Amino acid sequence: MSSQTKPQILLRREEITSAVKRLAAEIERDYQNRYPLLIGILKGSFIFMADLVRQLDFPLEVEFIRVSSYGRGRESSGAIKIVRGLTSVVKGRDVLLIEDIVDTGLTAGFVLDYLAKKKPTSLKLCTLTDKPSRRQRSVQIGYLGFTVPNKFLVGYGLDWDEKFRNLPDICFLENED
Ligand code: IMP
Repeated sequence: MSSQTKPQILLRREEITSAVKRLAAEIERDYQNRYPLLIGILKGSFIFMADLVRQLDFPLEVEFIRVSSYGRGRESSGAIKIVRGLTSVVKGRDVLLIEDIVDTGLTAGFVLDYLAKKKPTSLKLCTLTDKPSRRQRSVQIGYLGFTVPNKFLVGYGLDWDEKFRNLPDICFLENED
């Protein structure tokens, strides 16, 4: 992809805000007396996490984990490793994993396996977007914002080669030629 690539809006910021509020209401209903541990997968989930937790009016903890898939640009190599682990204790906690996008499912599946080994009381996945067309590994999504088409998305935390994370809307990339 070149500098000719221009982001086109797929999901406007207002739609994202309503989806985040809806997800927060569902999460609040299920977790409000459980002091959950919300774990965001870096870097893509940072904006979603920040907006989501500000809609949750009950005690909770926030953590981040960073994984690397040894890939840049659009394609993941499929080999995943943890490059920034957790400082919180997961054992005995109600854990909610927060993702920006589930695409092949390899990243979320890997992190869910890693967390499950630490014996949380419960473990669920909340993702803002789901791109089911490219799934290689099935993952159970507990809370979902949007199902999205098979396009490469940027904005609202999502990047292409570290660019476009700061766009307030979720966009797709289209070559201008
Ligand atoms: P998966 O392992 O293929 O499910 O994808 C996991 C990671 O790939 C996500 O956390 C994103 O960081 C990245 N990713 C997948 N699809 C997209 C996309 O459309 N735009 C930007 N990043 C993506």
